[in-house]
Amino acid sequence: MAKIAVIGTGYVGLTTGACFAHLGHEVICADIDADKVAMLQRGEIPIVERDLDRFVKEGLSSGNLSFVVGAIEASKASEFHYLCVPTPQGEDGAADLSYLERAAAEIAECLPTGSVVVNKSTVPVGSTGIVARVLGRSDVAVVSNPEFLREGTALDDFLNPDRVVIGCSNQEAAIRVAALYSKVRAPIMVTDPISAETIKYASNAFLASKLSFVNAIANVCEAVGADVNDVVLGMGYDKRIGKEFLHPGPGWGGSCFPKDTIALAKIAEDHGYEFTFLNEVLRVNEEQFERTAQKVLDVLGHDPAGRRIGCWGLTFKAGTDDLRQSPAIEVLKRVSAAGVQIKAYDPAVKGPVAELPDVEVVSDAYEAIEGAEVLVVLTEWDEFRWMDFDRVAELMEGRNIVDGRNLLERTQLIRRGFTYRGLGR
Ligand code: UDX
Repeated sequence: MAKIAVIGTGYVGLTTGACFAHLGHEVICADIDADKVAMLQRGEIPIVERDLDRFVKEGLSSGNLSFVVGAIEASKASEFHYLCVPTPQGEDGAADLSYLERAAAEIAECLPTGSVVVNKSTVPVGSTGIVARVLGRSDVAVVSNPEFLREGTALDDFLNPDRVVIGCSNQEAAIRVAALYSKVRAPIMVTDPISAETIKYASNAFLASKLSFVNAIANVCEAVGADVNDVVLGMGYDKRIGKEFLHPGPGWGGSCFPKDTIALAKIAEDHGYEFTFLNEVLRVNEEQFERTAQKVLDVLGHDPAGRRIGCWGLTFKAGTDDLRQSPAIEVLKRVSAAGVQIKAYDPAVKGPVAELPDVEVVSDAYEAIEGAEVLVVLTEWDEFRWMDFDRVAELMEGRNIVDGRNLLERTQLIRRGFTYRGLGR
């Protein structure tokens, strides 16, 4: 098997390293944060990701996985060098490549001849060329191998992907990277670097578009009196549409969709194409935050200041502890701005949320709704479906539910005397 250096131990780097080690490769993960490296070397995982701790511990005990401080320490004796560093959104919407360029510059000299440097992080179209220029090594190939990992299912998405995409102008290097995935049963497509980078952005932007569309359809359903659950079920039978990614929500978020969708619109604009469609997808998403917040404020009436609500869900989706670009936070910002008193509970969130200074985060779902006039659900944690709603009815001041994920059983709740407001139903 191969010797792989993974530069960066965030969601993507840690998952990539742990999975390549699981596949039998010899992996050295590097980070600039010595404390984080020490924690990882002890098998302690700083993020909530199903099975990641088990895979990391398996790699540490098999000797296939180790953690070091500094990229050079990992790259100097490796054949493949996966760049898994942050590519955050810059001021103008384009991705900030400073971390990527810094990592490439750091390892440029120590790379053994014949090495392959691989861009795993989501990088703007054309970045493979930028990394090659920073490296300045004609004896080193640079390859794009974008990740399609979803938080909460990242390891499964890595080991059982729908496809592996490899972008490289050097056929031999592409074949070497493809061989790393020899134990993975999935189509492997090889294309040029720019096409590979575009596949990543286009895939995320398409999925975000699908979500904005289904959220807009939920709004149409409210207007015409249709039930969006039946509408999306009927749509999903069409294989060209598919059943997945058709759940209306308070908007979409996370560390990727917003960043990547804005970045693709910017990339298009920088290259002379005004991607108005994608700008509209982003606008509809902002509108969904507003509409969901307004549903709560409508229940409270003309004078919401000082009134109390309880919120279940803060993370950007269930199965993760990630609050980055969370739709729940966007909605609560708007409700809190109207002076509403909010208590919130999320099973993965302990302690206050910086973006919601006036929201009290509690450690129990029932405490969150004590004395509340409205319960609003903003993240689709399964445990919320199984709460004791007789007890909820006793604890709440009012009987109003705004279900921002269409998660709860509407009929049961109405039978218990609640008023139920979902999305599109
Ligand atoms: C996404 C892409 O799915 C993944 O392929 C890419 O590599 C990284 O970005 P992730 O950000 O982890 O993954 O979350 P995802 O599961 O895609 O959900 C994104 C947002 O859409 C979340 O806020 C989620 O709640 C929302 N969503 C998703 C819906 O509102 N309805 C759905 O049916 C699905």
